[in-house]
Amino acid sequence: MKRMVIRAGSVLAITAGCLIGCSKEAPRSPVTPVTSSNQAGEIPNGEQLFKQFCSSCHPDGGNVSDPDRSLRGSALQKNHIAKPDDIVRIMRKPQSRMIRFDESTISDRDARALAEYVLKAFR
Ligand code: HEC
Repeated sequence: MKRMVIRAGSVLAITAGCLIGCSKEAPRSPVTPVTSSNQAGEIPNGEQLFKQFCSSCHPDGGNVSDPDRSLRGSALQKNHIAKPDDIVRIMRKPQSRMIRFDESTISDRDARALAEYVLKAFR
């Protein structure tokens, strides 16, 4: 009986050790951060932010619910979206079905990096 208890204990210890060890090595999961990272000094990564916040509705720069409003160069041009600021404005105040991203979700700095990525990535 005593043996059983010891064994169970060491199994627990191994499991806990793995949990800690594994989570340390795991790459940053896109699900973990609820808000975008804006710690001082960290360079915002537009591509990562896009995957986290936008790609569900805009996979590969498309638009799952409104194909005329994709993020591809031709659509942006047609809809008079030319500068990063134009995209940031849409994030802050979308037209209709797109959800709104305020500053507490995506900081101004991150929003700008995201916008620059969108303009470069989906020409
Ligand atoms: C819930 C789905 C959804 C998410 C998430 C989403 N969008 Fe949108 N987006 C839309 C829809 C729908 C439109 C079409 C306009 C509208 O209905 O508001 C749109 C339009 C746009 C447009 C205008 C495109 C054009 O050709 O006129 C831009 C730019 C844009 N989104 C950028 C973004 C960015 C950047 C993100 C991430 C921060 C994002 N969207 C996240 C649904 C979404």
